[in-house]
Amino acid sequence: MQIPIDPTSPRPAHEQISAHFAHLIRRGVLAPGTRLPATRQLANALGIARGTVSLAYDNLGRSGLVRTAVGAGTFVLETPASASDTPSPARPTATRFDWRGYVGDRIPPADDTVMAAVLEAVPPGIEPINLLRPIPDPSLVPLDDVRRAFRDVSRALRPDVLDYASAWGYAPLRERLAHDLATLGMDRADDRTLLVNGSQQGLDLVARALLRPGDVVVTERPAYRGALRVFQASGARVRALPMDAFGLDLDALERTLRAEPVRLIYATPAFHNPTGRSMDVDRLKRLLDIAGRAHVPIVEDGCFRELRYDGTPAPALKALDARGLVIHLGTFSKTLFPGLRVGWLAAPATLVDRLAHYRRDVDLGSVTLGQAVIHRLLEDGVLERHLDRIRETYRARRDALVTPLIGTGLEQRLDGAHLDPPSGGMSVWIDFDPPLSGFDVARRIATRGVLVSPGAFFDPGGADLPGIRLAFSTVDEAALARAADAVIDAVREARRTPERPAASAQPTTPVI
Ligand SMILES: Cc1ncc(COP(=O)(O)O)c(C=O)c1O
Repeated sequence: MQIPIDPTSPRPAHEQISAHFAHLIRRGVLAPGTRLPATRQLANALGIARGTVSLAYDNLGRSGLVRTAVGAGTFVLETPASASDTPSPARPTATRFDWRGYVGDRIPPADDTVMAAVLEAVPPGIEPINLLRPIPDPSLVPLDDVRRAFRDVSRALRPDVLDYASAWGYAPLRERLAHDLATLGMDRADDRTLLVNGSQQGLDLVARALLRPGDVVVTERPAYRGALRVFQASGARVRALPMDAFGLDLDALERTLRAEPVRLIYATPAFHNPTGRSMDVDRLKRLLDIAGRAHVPIVEDGCFRELRYDGTPAPALKALDARGLVIHLGTFSKTLFPGLRVGWLAAPATLVDRLAHYRRDVDLGSVTLGQAVIHRLLEDGVLERHLDRIRETYRARRDALVTPLIGTGLEQRLDGAHLDPPSGGMSVWIDFDPPLSGFDVARRIATRGVLVSPGAFFDPGGADLPGIRLAFSTVDEAALARAADAVIDAVREARRTPERPAASAQPTTPVI
């Protein structure tokens, strides 16, 4: 690539390079998703220091034109062509307002560049087996029951249901949930339940209400991307702590709590996303004890709780919580479907009532109609029957994926890979030790027509974690068996010919 650099210009070389790329991007010559040359390659081509190219790419990143993903490269982001670059013949040209610059880094950029680089590796013309999304299989949704529930709800529609609803949500569903939570031991006298537009909104409300820039939030590492993004958007510093086979490493938690003030702990004790791991009752009790002594609340993400396929259920963290420290999040997104956006948050009323008032500022209340449909499905016993069915199907799918991987002992099969078969949830995690780049392995798997998520998705700083997530819930058993073969093949190849060492597990970057 030729970039004219004028050595006599008072403008430093890195600015000349970034201006050149910015021009090409704004003109649409470099399309969104295009990977810029590697810094070393471009530096060699231009006969300049690699650091100069890095500075130029940093400039472009700050302008929101590109995004650099560790281990993947630097990619052009979606950018509206500026009017001055592409004047419309019908209108006079005007300089368009620079929203990208105005927003700056207040909203975390979309992190689709790592994925773009994985998708790129799928050979043309192949419909890949998609193990990217831990979501319910849409083909299993009991559509007739859902249609009937919509019909019943619409027949009973009264004008007041169309008014702004209570900020706490549709009362009959809240009552039903309170009853169901009570049967699970999550019914403290001073608790209240708030219906939210998906548990993601619950996370967002908690972050807005409780976090200020600079606050420290502890999470597992790896952790659910949606939670990391919400915490980071609030300006919190995320300390992502290691996990073992039973979830969050509590010795590491104790050390962190001793080292600095922590504002919030976020954990997914049952069928954690992405690892599928679960805390046993001893771990849950110790977690509560540690958090209680440090006076730090815990957000318990119960997203996959209901999806247990074998083993004895551990209680919810909230059910063991005598101090009122736990904010429990639940959702119908994984048990039924995510489209109606119905989830809940259960916690002591002193907090929930504040959050309910606060959510009025966000959306003036919840969507009653969707909540009424979910309520109908619960009352008709549809959810219970549906759960029996999906548990059976997902169990079989988990086995179809996991059995070939651990067939004769995973370590022999996959050479330095480790997998704890999850007893529920929608995903399986493979760790590579000695490390392999999760990104490199995901790309090699993609060349075999299978899509999996690289570990980098689940690290707060986007570090190339030496692991991959395989989400199995939407794929049939035959395809899962083929996917397992592709994984084994790709991991062996990566061991034989590592592209490059995995990025060392970088310390958690405080993202502010
Ligand atoms: C661990 C975890 N928590 C929360 C959510 C948010 O789900 P929803 O907002 O649909 O309830 C997800 C979605 O995938 C998730 O994986």
